[in-house]
Formats: sequence, C-alpha cells, structure tokens
Amino acid sequence: MKIAVLPGDGIGTEIVAEAAKVLGVLRGEGLAIELEYAQLGGAAYDASGDPFPEVTEKLVHQADAVLLGAVGGYQYDTLPRAMRPEQGLLRIRKSLGLFANLRPAVVYPELANASSLKSELVAGLDIMILRELTGDIYFGQPRGIRTLDNGEQQGFDTMMYSESEIRRIAHVGFQIALKRGKKLCSVDKANVLDTSMFWREVITEVAKEYPMVEFSHMLVDNAAMQLVRAPKQFDVIVTGNIFGDILSDEASMLTGSIGMLPSASLDANNKGLFEPCHGSAPDIAGKGIANPLATILSVAMMMRYTFARGDLAQRIEGAVRSVLQQGLRTGDIYQEGMKRVGTVEMGDAVVKALG
Ligand code: IPM
Ligand code: MG
Repeated sequence: MKIAVLPGDGIGTEIVAEAAKVLGVLRGEGLAIELEYAQLGGAAYDASGDPFPEVTEKLVHQADAVLLGAVGGYQYDTLPRAMRPEQGLLRIRKSLGLFANLRPAVVYPELANASSLKSELVAGLDIMILRELTGDIYFGQPRGIRTLDNGEQQGFDTMMYSESEIRRIAHVGFQIALKRGKKLCSVDKANVLDTSMFWREVITEVAKEYPMVEFSHMLVDNAAMQLVRAPKQFDVIVTGNIFGDILSDEASMLTGSIGMLPSASLDANNKGLFEPCHGSAPDIAGKGIANPLATILSVAMMMRYTFARGDLAQRIEGAVRSVLQQGLRTGDIYQEGMKRVGTVEMGDAVVKALG
C-alpha cells in the first residue's frame, strides 16, 4: 500500500499526523504500508510557487492512494486564481481522474443531538452523496470574463456533461446503492437546463441495468428542501459537480459535526484520494484542538474502497465509535458532561481503541 500523504494547510498537518498514527498501527501489525509526504495548496505555493507542483503530481501518480488534510488560508485569498490553494485541489482531482466523490452523511448515535435539526429527524441518518467531480461547470470551456460589443464586461462559465461522463458516475451510483439500501435518487435541474435534461435521459437508460435498485429523480431545489425536511428518505444521491458541492455541504450539517465526516474521490480503478469533508480551519490551526476523526475515518474509507479491506475499515470505524462512547470530544463536538480532549489525545485514544 503505497500512500502519498499531503497534509496541506491550516489544521491539515495536525489531523493528518493522527491519521498517520493509525496507519502506523496497521504497519506495525505487518501490513505493507509505505507513506511518502508531499505538499499541496498554500504550503506548496509557499515552497515552490505552485499549489500543485510537479513533484507532488509525480508522487500521487505513483501512489496507490492519497491521504489529504485540507488546503486553503486567508493569506492566499488575494493571489491570482491560478495560484490559489483550491486550484491545487481541482488540478489533483482532474490529473488523477477522480470522477467519483463519495460524501457520506452519517449521524453517530452518540452525537445525535449535535444537529441543528430536531434529533428525531436525523437520528440514525445514513446517506451517501455521490458527486461527479471532474466535469460540469467546474471544468467546462469556454469560461472567462469578456468585453461585449457595447463595452460592458461579462463573466461566463459553461455547464456541460458528455454521455460517457454521465454513464460512468451513474454506474458507480447504482453499484453503491446495491451495497446499501438499494435506493438511488438522481438530482438535476432538468426543468431548466439542457445539461440536466440530457443527464436525466442517460441515467434513466443506465437504470434499466439495475432493476433491483429503486430509482428516482429529484430537482435540485426540491432536494435541498427535502434534505432538511425529511433527510432519512434518501439512501444514495447521485448528482453533478456543482449541485453535489452544495448539497454535500448541506447534508454534512445535518449531522451537526462536519468534523466527523470523511470523503473519498475515486478513479475508474478505485484508486483514490481520501480527505475530511471539512476545510483547513485557519482560525484554529496550530492550537492542537482540531478534530482528527474525519481524517481517521478517511483512512477507513481508503482501506474499504482502494485496498478492498472492509475488515480494516470496520476496525477503524469501531475504534472511533469506541472513543465517542468513552465520552471523548474535541471542541467542535463537545457537549456538557463529556471529556474535552485535543487533537493528539483524540488520536492516541483511537490508536489505543484499535487494540
Ligand atoms: C469541496 C470544496 C471545493 C469544491 C473548493 C475548495 C474548490 O468546496 O471540495 O467541496 O468546490 O469542490
Ligand atoms: Mg464544497
């Protein structure tokens, strides 16, 4: 298991260090794990003037999987767009062909009252948002800012999906649904956008190959509403890049603890990049209080999806459950009566619970 580790910016270094401890335990048990570190985002820009330098690109192409902390920081907000940390993220996704982005929103029983929604609405919630990650208006050309004939300036982007892009993400969606609650909801804006009309046409065709999956369509504005009205109606949601960006943030907050949510971005061969759903949190960076559990759970996803070691994934997830049951909480998930711990203490507790 050759793993490229990209701590990134902000709290990235702190949380990745805890996830690396978990990998260290597995290596100690004889698993052939090899970690190689490189930079991405602001840290990479500072060191080499490029948020996705060539050395990093080489390393991630040679690796079987990538573990990423987070990228971004206030100090980079005024850089030209191509130099910003987020561009490093978009480029690594494109370069590795990571078209399938899995973002689970799971409510842990121990944290059910952390949500801003009534706890009965979210207790037991377990949904998977599958976001297409390398197409859509994120990458469509042409785009830019141009001057019209009348002298006025105009900004523009292009939303587009080709049939093959829709087909491959659709298949991933149905496959995931088959392994879970066997329900797939495709989200689009087919009442307005041609791209969405075509998306709906293609995915409906793919659906014929999966008669055992209960398949439905939903318009994105309705989906945004349904997610906060009755989120448990969903099992797997499949959607395009921009809608998935927005809905996955919404879904993460249903759990009330974005510090708990991992994500996986996979290519066609299940090689993947694994990262927490949350950002680099520059406001708490360096204080040792960030929650490392989302990054540790990202390692679990890596074991499950890239290395087909569901057994190890379950062990890591079990260890995380166990530290929650022990009452350990970082500040972001702290509740009255629990034991407040820092990043390192939390990581150590997971290592201990791994047994
Ligand atoms: C995400 C983020 C990124 C995205 C940004 C940082 C480019 O919001 O991973 O959801 O829009 O994809
Ligand atoms: Mg986002």
